[in-house]
Amino acid sequence: MIKRFTLGSPIDTDAVVGRLPVTDISEFPLALETGEKTVISFDLRDGEMIFGLGEAIRGINKRGWIYESWCSDETNHTEDKKALYGAHNFIIIENRFALFVDFAGKIEWDLGYESPSRAKITLDGSDADIYYITGKAPRDMAIRFRGLIGKSYIPPRWAFGYQQSCWGYAKESDFVAVRDRHRENKLPLDAIYMDIDYMDSFKDFTVNSERFPDFQAFVDDMKASNIHLVPIIDAGVKREKGYSVYDEGSERGYFCTDKDGEEFQCGVWPGIVGLPDFLNPDAREWFGSKYDALLDYGIDGFWNDMNEPALFYSKQGLESAVKKLQAIDPDTMDIWGFFEMRNVLFGMQNSYSDYCSIYHDLGGRRVCHKDVHNIYGAFMTRAAAEYFEKKYGKEKVLMFSRASYIGTHRYSGIWFGDNFSWWSHILLNLKLLPSANMCGYLYCGADLGGFNNNVTPDLLLRWLALGVFTPLMRNHRALGTRAQEAYSFENVSDFADVLAVRYRLLPYLYEAFRRASDEDDMLFRPLAFDYPDDKIARETEDQLMLSDECMIAPVYEQNRLGRTVYLPEDMTLLRLSGERVDRTELKKGVHYIDVALNEVPLFLKKGKKITLAEPALNTEELDWETLEIIEG
Ligand code: GLC
Repeated sequence: MIKRFTLGSPIDTDAVVGRLPVTDISEFPLALETGEKTVISFDLRDGEMIFGLGEAIRGINKRGWIYESWCSDETNHTEDKKALYGAHNFIIIENRFALFVDFAGKIEWDLGYESPSRAKITLDGSDADIYYITGKAPRDMAIRFRGLIGKSYIPPRWAFGYQQSCWGYAKESDFVAVRDRHRENKLPLDAIYMDIDYMDSFKDFTVNSERFPDFQAFVDDMKASNIHLVPIIDAGVKREKGYSVYDEGSERGYFCTDKDGEEFQCGVWPGIVGLPDFLNPDAREWFGSKYDALLDYGIDGFWNDMNEPALFYSKQGLESAVKKLQAIDPDTMDIWGFFEMRNVLFGMQNSYSDYCSIYHDLGGRRVCHKDVHNIYGAFMTRAAAEYFEKKYGKEKVLMFSRASYIGTHRYSGIWFGDNFSWWSHILLNLKLLPSANMCGYLYCGADLGGFNNNVTPDLLLRWLALGVFTPLMRNHRALGTRAQEAYSFENVSDFADVLAVRYRLLPYLYEAFRRASDEDDMLFRPLAFDYPDDKIARETEDQLMLSDECMIAPVYEQNRLGRTVYLPEDMTLLRLSGERVDRTELKKGVHYIDVALNEVPLFLKKGKKITLAEPALNTEELDWETLEIIEG
């Protein structure tokens, strides 16, 4: 059952589909304090687990830490952080109830941090819809919640193929080389990503004509070899007279303003930009139609970035920082002065006070950004998706967004942002999957191999062996990092073996994905969902259930030749590598399993079946019909 409670007059965040009748607030079953802030609190029972919050750091069981809903351009995904890029305000209190707090401002989730046996949710405001959901088990509550928020986005089928990205591919020949080297090395590939360098001076919806003298011929040539190009679009629009996107947006008043009603100016990749006011439906429609600049070439995939929105600095913040720095006398500055100077410099990025000085036009009502921060990026992606759907219908364009709110899952996927080439981030990737799924994000994945920092071939292979199962399977890295394309290392055949497994499993994975989307279900579940009475399964957070047939348990530590796996029931271990499938029958319990670097372990439940296709070099060439059946 779902009950909706309304406080004040909340804005329409586009999170839910359909409108539930409002239940009188006197029936709200938890402690509630209202005022400038809203506080919901309740006791936690011994051993009770908490799930949810989508894209957030730490464990699958969220109990024992304090989190924030505040879409953040946060590159350090470390345990001290409270928020990442998405705001997914949904939690499940194991077998009792679930809550969806539909509120676009900041929320603090103290889930047993201040007091281990008490949860306290603090909303920075007084207008919200709160949905109280009950069900017999966490999975039912998640399904019920998904029914409320609408069907998950399904990308085109090619988007389930392997994809290569790098911030640094700049000119035509870079992309051609990536395609050709995959081909030469018999490595599969379906898409190559175009990061900011394809643009002219980082201006959205432009293509640099020196780097791409004949962009149409280039797109056609890639398409002819079944490679899709996926360009990035950033939220900020360069403020430059004569640049038609800026001129049009400015003339029509489509940019966010400051307190005096002037366009708010901040610095991102292109230098000073205007932030399109995605909360204004007219601005949304206008921005969506701008994707035509690339769609018209036959481009059919995009990633929307920097849409939290990320601000390196604001114009006003920079001016005040420069003044402060000019007043410094290096001869008299003590160490505290030095620290202060450092704070002035680093405090400019994504500063809360800047977010408080941006204004939106919400149907003629002026709204301060801090109160709607968490839907800004979501509404950018909505703008694009609504346009794509109008133009082509569903499932034609791949899109994923960095910032998101509940509701974005109907329009696009998400990727988990700027992680590091760290072993611990393989595990973080795994833990994010079920939490994102609960919140509707089925098409999601992390930068495989890690974005920041230098990769090693073993780390990449282990990470890819997890990526084989994630709907979005993209290898991406930052500018200046060590090459991490699958052909960059001595043992290329190991990479070919692991990537082949993705294509062999694709018909099964694609069907499982569609089923999860149709049934509002999760593709990945914590073991605790399926084996709630099994003490070890409840605490196992480095393995996941995959659909209704399988369990996955990737190796995620350096120099490991295998790993310890807990089997909550008898299962068949499949060691998949290239065309090879080795079977081992295993009994319920703890096992150490060997896993070579070119192998992908998969556990199949007894009585369940999966299918395997012949290996292929891309989704077009894959034979989706001739399948081998493997029984557990
Ligand atoms: C951001 C994105 C990253 C991208 C970079 C340059 O950091 O998260 O994926 O490569 O910007 O566009």
